[in-house]
Amino acid sequence: MTAILGLSAFFHDSAAALVVDGRVVAAAQEERFSRIKHDAAFPTEAIQACLELGGVKPDDLDHVAFYEKPLLKFDRLLETYADIAPRGVRSFTTAMPSWLQQKLHVRREVRRGLGNLYHGPIAFFEHHESHAASAFYASPFDEAAIMTMDGVGEWATTTIGIGSGEKIQLSKEIRFPDSIGLLYSAFTYHAGFRVNSGEYKLMGLAPYGTPRFATLIRERLISICDDGSFRLDSSYFNYRGGLTMTNAKFDRLFGRKRRDPSETIEAFHRDMAASIQCVTEEAVMKAAIHLKEISGQSKLCLAGGVALNCVANGKLLREGPFDDVWVQPAAGDAGGAVGAAMLVWHQVMRQPRSVSSSPPFDALLGPEYSDASVREALDRSGLQFERLDDESLAHSVVADLADGKVIGRFDGRMEFGPRALGNRSILADPRGAETQSRINQKIKFRESFRPFAPAILANHVEACLDTGGHAANPYMMFVHPMRGSDVPAVTHVDGTARVQSVDARDNVRFERLLRCFFEATGCPMLVNTSFNVRGEPIVGSPDDAIRCFLKTDLDVLVIENFVVRSKVGAIAPTFDVVKGHWLDMPRKIFRLWNRVVGVIGLSAVYYLVVTPVGWARRVGRTSRESDDTSSYWRHVDADRDPKRHLRTY
Ligand SMILES: [Fe+2]
Repeated sequence: MTAILGLSAFFHDSAAALVVDGRVVAAAQEERFSRIKHDAAFPTEAIQACLELGGVKPDDLDHVAFYEKPLLKFDRLLETYADIAPRGVRSFTTAMPSWLQQKLHVRREVRRGLGNLYHGPIAFFEHHESHAASAFYASPFDEAAIMTMDGVGEWATTTIGIGSGEKIQLSKEIRFPDSIGLLYSAFTYHAGFRVNSGEYKLMGLAPYGTPRFATLIRERLISICDDGSFRLDSSYFNYRGGLTMTNAKFDRLFGRKRRDPSETIEAFHRDMAASIQCVTEEAVMKAAIHLKEISGQSKLCLAGGVALNCVANGKLLREGPFDDVWVQPAAGDAGGAVGAAMLVWHQVMRQPRSVSSSPPFDALLGPEYSDASVREALDRSGLQFERLDDESLAHSVVADLADGKVIGRFDGRMEFGPRALGNRSILADPRGAETQSRINQKIKFRESFRPFAPAILANHVEACLDTGGHAANPYMMFVHPMRGSDVPAVTHVDGTARVQSVDARDNVRFERLLRCFFEATGCPMLVNTSFNVRGEPIVGSPDDAIRCFLKTDLDVLVIENFVVRSKVGAIAPTFDVVKGHWLDMPRKIFRLWNRVVGVIGLSAVYYLVVTPVGWARRVGRTSRESDDTSSYWRHVDADRDPKRHLRTY
């Protein structure tokens, strides 16, 4: 047996993945355990869960793989600061402590995180290599074109290439600061949403607006070539060395300051969302057309944060140059853990890859809970519950759903990636006109404009949506136009839906529930939204599910075969109140002193070292405007050689 642990950490969405003999047997995000949304901490609990699921101990591991090269990323940070110094000192003094204390010591952190029981090799792959591997190796294609797009990894922000068998060759890339992901995040920030989290909200807002700023964006912010490569005008953005994404020049261009999150969303914000969505789709489509031309491939694999833009994915699938598109369901940085582990198996250990002999990628890779542990959690909660057999459970849940009740469903293994696919889901009948606003306002406590997704029996997808002949969408990664308008809860304002197709191979128990609902009502779909409230990660354990049930207006809670219909008798969740002690004061003062000394020291380094180095580097440098403007793609091999000494770490 060969066991490989893949890790992503220290940016956002830290995760662990366990690959045993070339198969992903477990994967989970740290946020589901720590309860901190997008947790960037070292994924200690996710590792523990993955090892338990695989029956592997730390000293049984053959390899550990990290999803990026920290030194190369640090190199990008330093070069960026040198470029903008003396501006950027606040960002520098904020970022450096975590780099010096932790992020540059990944080997030490990994060994410590594994209880100093692992003494084997630790491999480091480039961020976009990990994204590419997470998409291609998990895909059902023997060979395919690959495109990765995100905010930024080490230097790359977009890459294109080809996967064939066990080989992946990324041939072209676009580098920081030119980034579609950061451009989208800049608009997310300006609209008053959180960066690296609120991009979905912006995408959901887009259909309410008109893209009246799209031309302005193309003229002033981003120049997109015919081959899909692009360049941003950095003077409108602050992300290179500031603590914000956009600057005053950006505000002046659009005539508005950033929306404060407490302010209402107006037509301006809706139009901004529509405009950036339009430009993003254009860039993705052009890059895909170029990739098709240079690769000659008929299939495409996508990963990276931009691949979570399901609207762009749907358009690419229906109208793009490829016959088929496969998107890694954990397309963001969490998925890098899977990619890095698979890279060890196929590229370090040179194990062949055979699509025909491997089952389709299963996103249900997280922990599951036994009946005994569920019963224990329910007993602790004081809630009244009953346990039903499988047949009765399906009929009971269907009767509740048809009666207009909203149900929290916790079943089987937890999903890997940002989407709940039925096992940690809130479910409802999509036909009710009030369902969407009720779930948004009383259960999820989120913005009323945000749509819900339908989970649809696979053999009914074509009848319900115009998927362009691509009915199988088991991971909820594509948005398509709906054919009818009788399911308002899952139909967005522009008549589209983010579909999840469900068949028995994907999820036997969830398919049975949908089938029973169809037999009882004639409706082959359910509202499926993630089981959480605004600002919290999706529930991970039965205790999380019970807490979420108690603090929302959910009607019924179903955990495995246990059903809870009433909140009467619940023991209010207790929280340990940590009171300050006067003896903590010296420690706090010491910490504050350390921080002050650190800021002074780092500021001195910034002004006395980084700034003069930056000035020296800028002397004689040719301006970006003198470059070739017909294409901004960089050929990967030619450009990577000068950094080769950094590539091992
Ligand atoms: Fe990424």
